[in-house]
Amino acid sequence: MIITRLPQPPLRVNISPMKNGQAQVAEIFLDSRMRLVCPPELIPAPGQYLLAHASFSDDPLADPVFFSDSAPEGFVAAPGLPWTPGTKLNLRGPLGHGFAIPASARKVALIAFDDSPERMRGLIPIAFKLGAEVVLVSDVAAQDLPEAVEVQPLQALDEIIQWADFAAFDVARENLPRLAKKLGTGNQLPAQILIRAPMPCGAVAECGVCAVNIHNEWKLICKDGPVFEF
Ligand code: FES
Repeated sequence: MIITRLPQPPLRVNISPMKNGQAQVAEIFLDSRMRLVCPPELIPAPGQYLLAHASFSDDPLADPVFFSDSAPEGFVAAPGLPWTPGTKLNLRGPLGHGFAIPASARKVALIAFDDSPERMRGLIPIAFKLGAEVVLVSDVAAQDLPEAVEVQPLQALDEIIQWADFAAFDVARENLPRLAKKLGTGNQLPAQILIRAPMPCGAVAECGVCAVNIHNEWKLICKDGPVFEF
């Protein structure tokens, strides 16, 4: 896998139908996740995202918001967001392609390669519903996981890859070469990967900032991803 950025093409406006709505930050947890209250049609699936702007903020860039867990009247968003309780948000989305665990999966590995595993927490109940075992691989601790989830450090990655029949990864774009090197070329495990990168326009202007080269093809993370077949 070769990962580089596309040269920046001129901005093109290409507005597609999308849902807009409002939300409010209801509470912030100790692990920095936050519970958002929002209309049900705006709740993203695991791996999908919303673009969110705080009302009255003069920051021109929206923040990508990823699902972490279910919650009454909204959902719990993954960490990394800058707001405080009570902040009102303008949302656009859900955007992009999320994870889809194959129905045949019975040994699911969730691998947070370089950050919090919280963007993959929403896959745990889906995997359990399929009757699968779940191992979470991460060097960042996650609170209040179901007891049935086994947690392993990244050091155990090779062993878990041997065990799993499906893997979901979460990795920053700049760390893709490191992950590809770690996995090697002989790995045939069915896998999907959430690639994180700045997504300033969320596919509206095709700015190219989120471009990534996957299997020798240029893709836009905001539109073709952020979850890709790996
Ligand atoms: S094309 Fe602008 S963020 Fe992806």
